[in-house]
Amino acid sequence: MMQYRKFGKLDWQPSALGFGAMRLPTVDGKAGHIDYPKAEAMIHKAIEGGVNYFDTAYVYHEQQSETFVGKALAGGLRDRVRIATKSPVWLVNEPGDFDRLLDEQLKRLQTDHIDFYLLHALNRNSFQDKVVKHDLVKRAEAAKADGRIRQMGFSFHDNFETFKTIVDYTDKWDFCQIQYNYMDTTVQAGTKGLKYAASKGLGVVIMEPLLGGKLALDVPAARPLWASASRKASPADWALQWLWSQPEVGVVLSGMSTMEQVEQNIASASESAVGKLTAADNALIEKVRDLMNSLSPIPCTRCEYCLPCPNGVNIPRNFDSYNKALMFDILDDSRFDYRVWISDDSKAERCIQCDECLDKCPQKIAISTWMPIVGEVLGLGREYVKSI
Ligand SMILES: NC(=O)c1ccc[n+]([C@@H]2O[C@H](COP(=O)([O-])OP(=O)(O)OC[C@H]3O[C@@H](n4cnc5c(N)ncnc54)[C@H](OP(=O)(O)O)[C@@H]3O)[C@@H](O)[C@H]2O)c1
Repeated sequence: MMQYRKFGKLDWQPSALGFGAMRLPTVDGKAGHIDYPKAEAMIHKAIEGGVNYFDTAYVYHEQQSETFVGKALAGGLRDRVRIATKSPVWLVNEPGDFDRLLDEQLKRLQTDHIDFYLLHALNRNSFQDKVVKHDLVKRAEAAKADGRIRQMGFSFHDNFETFKTIVDYTDKWDFCQIQYNYMDTTVQAGTKGLKYAASKGLGVVIMEPLLGGKLALDVPAARPLWASASRKASPADWALQWLWSQPEVGVVLSGMSTMEQVEQNIASASESAVGKLTAADNALIEKVRDLMNSLSPIPCTRCEYCLPCPNGVNIPRNFDSYNKALMFDILDDSRFDYRVWISDDSKAERCIQCDECLDKCPQKIAISTWMPIVGEVLGLGREYVKSI
């Protein structure tokens, strides 16, 4: 049975598992072409399984995700769940922009209110240049007062100091959304940020719990560690239980891309509980963390914030192939993948080091330094480079 969690000061409990509508199945691999029948069936299965929190954003799936979610929840389902979506603050330049975007989102979602409204992907710069400069907290408060939004929060990609500044900026935040998983305890908001937000009464939503899918991979080098555990579970289940075991964690979003993942993650959430993992379990996860850190050279989570690249490079796709080569010890497969499956116009070698992506990367990856290396290692057979 689905478990429900405490959520800051709010008198409402989200399901342990939330549905992230950012990695939905597509008909042809193009983000904007959502496979409606498959994705709708996944949403309906999640609701049947007790999921009551659905997360989308103005920009997901080339701006098609909100429209899809609105359609999938039409016919009575909308009232059974809570919808979270996000204001694309980088598009707010004029006084009327915030409200215009919000009204457009309400239409796309076929609803008269958004339950959880977030200022999207705040970092040090966007906080100053958008939130402070355009007084967006006041605008969100007005939207709350007129009923278009119910709770206000922000999603976040930067370091703990910036996180604290934003949390402390106002007492109007109801909740926040952070990237957190057993690999990211000391980067981004980190464990310190999680505890800080919870201590201030904010509900905490977790994104990228599987580090964009990486923590679900069956890494050969990690098998002996997992096998030594007293509890038998998949790597994905371990990563999720690690989060749910912590009392400060509210809802854990998973960007599920298949029905099987929806079923597995509902089953995991149903087994979850605060304090479920033992000290030995947590020590094991620390060992896996150390091992993974030593295996994955580029900390890309495939969030795609770096896209579109003005030169067409599919940055996350190239990094993913490069990382997997080392994590799975499959360099030849990754070279084949690069040659055959990554289209010529999106290969690493198209990078001209314009550096437009650098500021957009939440992980602060030196993308343009890595890109020629990836191109040479995967495209030209150069020896593998593990660090720069
Ligand atoms: N506000 C922001 O700044 C921001 C940024 C990022 C994400 N988000 C939100 O947070 C949500 C969650 O983040 P995320 O999508 O990165 O979550 P995630 O759970 O870390 O990654 C999702 C990926 O994990 C894999 N996966 C999930 N369940 C699995 C299972 N049971 N077994 C094996 N693999 C599994 C799938 O990868 P494959 O497709 O490779 O199988 C899936 O696409 C997003 O969907 C989005 O709604 C928000």
